[in-house]
Amino acid sequence: MTQANYAIIGGTSGIGFALAQKLVARGERVLIGGRNEQKLAQAQERLGPQASGRVVDITDRASLRIFFEGIEALSGLFTPAASYATGDFRDGDSATSEGLFQAKFWAQYWAVYEALPHLSDTASVVLMSGAASARPIGAPAYAACNAALEGLARGLAVELRPIRVNCLSPGTTDSELWRNREAAQRDAAYDYWNNVTLVQRPGTVEEQADAALFLLENKNMTGSTLYCDGGYTLK
Ligand SMILES: NC(=O)c1ccc[n+]([C@@H]2O[C@H](COP(=O)([O-])OP(=O)(O)OC[C@H]3O[C@@H](n4cnc5c(N)ncnc54)[C@H](OP(=O)(O)O)[C@@H]3O)[C@@H](O)[C@H]2O)c1
Repeated sequence: MTQANYAIIGGTSGIGFALAQKLVARGERVLIGGRNEQKLAQAQERLGPQASGRVVDITDRASLRIFFEGIEALSGLFTPAASYATGDFRDGDSATSEGLFQAKFWAQYWAVYEALPHLSDTASVVLMSGAASARPIGAPAYAACNAALEGLARGLAVELRPIRVNCLSPGTTDSELWRNREAAQRDAAYDYWNNVTLVQRPGTVEEQADAALFLLENKNMTGSTLYCDGGYTLK
């Protein structure tokens, strides 16, 4: 029997894993999910006995249903899992437009739907968008997808109350997502980021996890989007 207070879909690396570490350090029991079984086992081992893990693909509703099976009265859900590509409008590519929405927007939409019977009345849900919602760098479908997630948090907050629903909107963050890319691509992205933010550096996964934790815990926060982006949306 798996027991958990918090579920994190996309909890095996990056921001999701950093949040899992913080929750475990507070004595919470955390269920983490990701697609890769080996990565899941390694993450679980690093987190210790308070963590359990299940393989899940957030884009697959049947997989989501199995992920939550037997889990009761969750206090919190975080859904940073997403794998997608972005591109220009003029490319006319459905993978970077409709496919992106499937991977990031509809995935989180159905994750909350499948989680609902397993959430306590006082639960808190944190969705994941990205600061391109407010300040696009091009890739208009990516801007729209993130803005849609922020709208979804507002709509869900109204319909699902007293369950609270918020959205975390990060800027570029030094996580495995970037570390697994070519050094030249990563360095170019970080250099760009240093120039377009007030803090002049990428965020850390710990900073993003702190922001997610705030949204999970602060009982006056619902329907909000928290931009943890080093001032990107202002500069
Ligand atoms: N890092 C940034 O600069 C940044 C900036 C803005 C927004 N974001 C948002 O934050 C999200 C998380 O970023 P991160 O930096 O923490 O990335 P990360 O280190 O790559 O972590 C992504 C996590 O999600 C899981 N995952 C990916 N696709 C999945 C799927 N279809 N089903 C289930 N699990 C899946 C991954 O495990 P598996 O691969 O094993 O499935 C992993 O656990 C991003 O996807 C993005 O939407 C990040």
